[in-house]
Amino acid sequence: MKCLLVLLSYHHKNTEKIAKVFAKVLDAQIKAPQQINPEELQEYGLLGFGSGIYGAKHHEDLLDLADKLSPVTNKKAFIFSTSAITGKAKVAEDHSLLREKLQSKGYLIMDEFACKGFNTNSFMKYFGGMNKGRPNAEDLKHAEEFAQNLKQNC
Ligand SMILES: Cc1cc2nc3c(=O)[nH]c(=O)nc-3n(C[C@H](O)[C@H](O)[C@H](O)COP(=O)(O)O)c2cc1C
Repeated sequence: MKCLLVLLSYHHKNTEKIAKVFAKVLDAQIKAPQQINPEELQEYGLLGFGSGIYGAKHHEDLLDLADKLSPVTNKKAFIFSTSAITGKAKVAEDHSLLREKLQSKGYLIMDEFACKGFNTNSFMKYFGGMNKGRPNAEDLKHAEEFAQNLKQNC
């Protein structure tokens, strides 16, 4: 079964760097939420949904897409993000809205990935930004390992 990544990454293309690693390992296409016709998702066995975290949640366009998805029965999916601040509890909270929307449509969330991303939002731009250089080589290695673990599903 094929794998598709639905990505929105605009601030510094941080999440795109992670998605590109996933795409390579999973032999997956990357599409923006606006390019998705919910009907076409039937042909995929595994779906990855990711963006930066903006205001403690995934991008609105991704959340809106999740609202438009047709109900499925245990279709496999995973969630990913980059953000200024990470940590298990914080990421779990930041991912919760997208996770709940997908689960309510019948998606089975196989795993979740998060790492730090360069952030120049708001006043941070006056101090050279936060997390310069992230995602870094180690983050990309973690992304590769994460995708390898999911590979059997597509
Ligand atoms: C408008 C805006 C809001 C943000 N809000 C948060 C936030 O609530 N929590 C956080 O940890 N990072 C926040 N960030 C930082 C981004 O999540 C981080 O830079 C991310 O890597 C951006 O991903 P992208 O380059 O793929 O768009 C915010 C950034 C922007 C531009």
